[in-house]
Amino acid sequence: MNLNPASHININVNSTTKSSDPAPQALSPFAIDIRKGLWARPKKIPSKYFYDEIGSKLFQDIMNLDEYYLTDCEYEVLDLNKSQILDHCQRTGGFDIIELGAGDGYKTKVLLRHFLEAGADFTYRPVDISTEAIDGLVNTLQQEIPDLQVNAIVDDYFQALNNLKAEDAKRTRVVLFLGSNVGNLKFVEVVNFLEKLKAGMKQGDLLLTGFDLRKDPDMILAAYNDSKGVTAQFNLNLLNRMNRELGAEFDLSTFKHYPFYDAINGEARSCLVSKVKQSVYIAALDDTVDFEVAEIIKTEVSRKYFPGQVEALASRTGFSTVAHLFDAKKHFLDALWSA
Ligand code: AVJ
Repeated sequence: MNLNPASHININVNSTTKSSDPAPQALSPFAIDIRKGLWARPKKIPSKYFYDEIGSKLFQDIMNLDEYYLTDCEYEVLDLNKSQILDHCQRTGGFDIIELGAGDGYKTKVLLRHFLEAGADFTYRPVDISTEAIDGLVNTLQQEIPDLQVNAIVDDYFQALNNLKAEDAKRTRVVLFLGSNVGNLKFVEVVNFLEKLKAGMKQGDLLLTGFDLRKDPDMILAAYNDSKGVTAQFNLNLLNRMNRELGAEFDLSTFKHYPFYDAINGEARSCLVSKVKQSVYIAALDDTVDFEVAEIIKTEVSRKYFPGQVEALASRTGFSTVAHLFDAKKHFLDALWSA
């Protein structure tokens, strides 16, 4: 055991990903996507823009809601299957866990603690594009699990994987992509994402990905339509974000959060609906966007899977299924695949 926990902690910042400041007149990527999305029919905003500082906090609150079953279910998946996961990880000896988008590490800590107690030879390498997110996670881990070997990476996911590919080839890499973030992607986008991940992995490396499963449609809808209205705030925060960052003049009281679940195709969708006919000025674009009564902005799709669709996705992208790991009620699936 190392008596100085800080010596385990190491943060690599990839300087090549830092771009130089844009010219004063240049539109931000957010402004460009808003100009595209709000002038499209139907109107839409990419769901990645939920996660500014306020939105990320609201998402933490969502994860603590009773109706938002996903987090508890996946926690249970990992807790019930941690020994089996470890067996697969250490098949060929030492391994490195590369976690893409670790958040606060709440679910991952179940695995990390178990792996340490079992005396496994492994390191933990959380990857995030945000230095603040990484700093926060590293600090908590340092305090809560001082024996853990943490080697954080501030970089783009694919860049990080490709850089790691060159490093010590004998250790198994175990890529974690928890949560049901793949649910936000369209079929072609998931395929593309998984193929890019696979290109950053070597043969025999493992991938553990979360998929929210089909279940009682009412239960799914409730997860995106909570009684405390936190998800509504999370959705409406997109308007606030445009007000703050783009000098837009949205009146939040004239829009409502409208989630619905299509049990035929397994898509939970969220929209914002304009309650009135209105025009809203956006300073950064020096333009005005018009809304009819009841016109919608599409803001999110969260896809729900059948286990068979997850298996099909593995074969389609060249992975082989090692195991399907479930919670007791089979509401959530973490798929363990081998590259
Ligand atoms: C972070 C994408 C997994 O789709 O369930 C939660 C985001 N949106 N409530 C999800 C979200 C509304 C969440 N993911």
